[in-house]
Amino acid sequence: MSTIELSGLRKSFGSVAVIHGIELTVAEGEFLALVGPSGCGKSTLLRMIAGLEDISAGEIRIDGKRVNHIDPKGRNVAMVFQNYALYPHMTVRENISLNLRISRVAKDEIARRVAEAARLLDIEPLMDRRPSQLSGGQRQRVAMGRAIVRNPAVFLFDEPLSNLDAKLRVQMRSEIKSFHQKMPTTSIYVTHDQIEAMTLADRVVVLNGGRIEQVGSPIDLYLKPCNLFVAGFIGSPAMNFLPATADLDDVGNPVARLPTGQFVRLTQNLALAPGLPLVLGLRPEHLSLSGPGTALPARVSHVEPTGAQTHLLLDFAGVSLVAVINDFCRLKRGDDLQVGIDPSRLHVFSDASGHRLGD
Ligand SMILES: Nc1ncnc2c1ncn2[C@@H]1O[C@H](COP(=O)(O)OP(=O)(O)OP(=O)(O)O)[C@@H](O)[C@H]1O
Ligand SMILES: [Mg+2]
Repeated sequence: MSTIELSGLRKSFGSVAVIHGIELTVAEGEFLALVGPSGCGKSTLLRMIAGLEDISAGEIRIDGKRVNHIDPKGRNVAMVFQNYALYPHMTVRENISLNLRISRVAKDEIARRVAEAARLLDIEPLMDRRPSQLSGGQRQRVAMGRAIVRNPAVFLFDEPLSNLDAKLRVQMRSEIKSFHQKMPTTSIYVTHDQIEAMTLADRVVVLNGGRIEQVGSPIDLYLKPCNLFVAGFIGSPAMNFLPATADLDDVGNPVARLPTGQFVRLTQNLALAPGLPLVLGLRPEHLSLSGPGTALPARVSHVEPTGAQTHLLLDFAGVSLVAVINDFCRLKRGDDLQVGIDPSRLHVFSDASGHRLGD
């Protein structure tokens, strides 16, 4: 187990800068998820930590030791990729033990470590099969086994489950979680799958264009996204955004004026200059068809029943809103309704800077 410290970390490919000064410390045994849009630099960052990519500036420390110029083998880091290339002509046992055999680890030590990995990953009955005789999830477990037997100080995962079907992903997700609980090795886990990030990670890093937008626990990012980017990125379906203007009601309480002229109470401990342009954020799951708060007149433009939930695409004064209703609902396109918004669930952002305002 080890800490990972990144400071002032930068990377350019030729004249194109892709990582713009990353400051990040991963604690010993921590499971950190790295998320962000395609091309934002997630794989590049992981490859820099693994030593597979030179760094242009800054410093990487693993367990306090500067590793900038240490080659991948000397870093004691294991990487698990999306494309887990297993050798087709080797058995599972041979695939898992290959690196140890190359490093000339003693035979009985290899046997011990391979048996331990097989037990942890629950692949003991598969050890004499070849990769072609395994399911996708079993192959992914073998790829994990190959990483585990090296007893690494750090695990780096680059979208390891993205080739698996939905059901297997869920299963492997919980296996990775229970594996980490049994063997809490410091891990960085890149994923496109928000549920994976939210359920696996102690903390989530949101990367955008080679810069960190926010680092926090999954629930922090959901409840208090620090800016419009994180607000729109974390959560599915994405947060709704409504243009509004800061104002005061008759007794001087802060309110937001909506495009319809309606007011919404702002309970976020805000002191805003009247007239300030705002963006209000409302999660689809916090819009309701009844209940407390301000009611917005809206028209249904699309209905998507998903079974347990219904996703409603609504038009409110020319702004599209998505509402997730936790039930089957009989609304149809063209229906008019009132959507309730609960002021305590509102997120308030400055339109000018995109930063979160208030609590
Ligand atoms: N070897 C390279 N030479 C030039 N540019 C590169 C190289 N590798 C990556 N890039 C560029 O660096 C940026 C970051 O790429 P990276 O693969 O790290 O993104 P990512 O966040 O992992 O994306 P994805 O989610 O699609 O996997 C991209 O714009 C990419 O085109
Ligand atoms: Mg990538």
